[in-house]
Amino acid sequence: MAALSGCAGTSSIFNPASVNAQEISSLIQTIYIIAAIVFVIVEGLLIYAAIRFSRKSAPPASEIEGNVKIEIGWTLLPAIVLAIVFFVSLKTLSSVAYLPPVSASDPPGQQPVTVRVVGHQWWWEFDYPDLKITTADELHVPVNTVVYLEVTSNDVIHSYWVPQLGGKIDAIPGQTNHTWFKVTQTGTFDGQCAEFCGVEHGDMRLKVVAESADQFQTWVKDQQSPIPSLSGEAAKGEQYFLQGACVGCHTIDGTAAQGKVGPNLTHIAARSIIAGGVLTNTPENLTKWLTDPQAVKPGNIMPNLHLPADEIQALVAFLGSLK
Ligand code: CUA
Repeated sequence: MAALSGCAGTSSIFNPASVNAQEISSLIQTIYIIAAIVFVIVEGLLIYAAIRFSRKSAPPASEIEGNVKIEIGWTLLPAIVLAIVFFVSLKTLSSVAYLPPVSASDPPGQQPVTVRVVGHQWWWEFDYPDLKITTADELHVPVNTVVYLEVTSNDVIHSYWVPQLGGKIDAIPGQTNHTWFKVTQTGTFDGQCAEFCGVEHGDMRLKVVAESADQFQTWVKDQQSPIPSLSGEAAKGEQYFLQGACVGCHTIDGTAAQGKVGPNLTHIAARSIIAGGVLTNTPENLTKWLTDPQAVKPGNIMPNLHLPADEIQALVAFLGSLK
């Protein structure tokens, strides 16, 4: 597959890291091989004919009217090739389209995880209904475990896509689409909205963090724990947060902040990215974001609140303590 390996970057479909993505990648390679064989034969004959009959000494071309054998041949051969392509596609389609069966006897730690994926302009929300976790931008999953996704949208049509994990699917408002994946190696996999959804479509990114069963359980426990009681700058930031406009749009579990417009911030400090993946989660970037969200991501729904610098500093300390 030397010809294809040129595309095998980190987030390429030719570098699959999930069972279903592997199936899709194998199908693409099979069809490429079939297409390459057809290409070489057809182009070979064309070039041969062009050279052979362009010579001055070549005999004049004879005119043939109808040849049943040749006509049957050039009808039957492509039909056979297309039938092969049809059946290998059908086989892959059935194995990636149907969710693997859920079994109560799956070993602990390998019980399927269900995540509700909600597209927003322009960020991804991840709800784990069974675990009572709501997060954004970064999707944590255990390896070697089936992850069921229930994909929908809050506003316009988006498309959930993590190239290495397959299962690209539309996120449509008022409808729930289903897909699944099963990551075969630990690591971080980049994803991107794949349906034009407005000016910041290109910056509607996500990350899938696939970790061992133990690491995943630790993450779950951290996410389920209440926010810590704070002192100093962070406590001051908490006051600003709960008394300011933030609560109108954001939720922090266990507090009066229950807004549902923007991402749930209960454990924002545990995420590596913010703002739909445009910024890495650092105090500097959070400051930049709070100072002028429109400068960072023009058109996004978070307004510039014209917060004073000391308030922003306290808010950054507060949000940074929400591990
Ligand atoms: Cu959401 Cu493109």
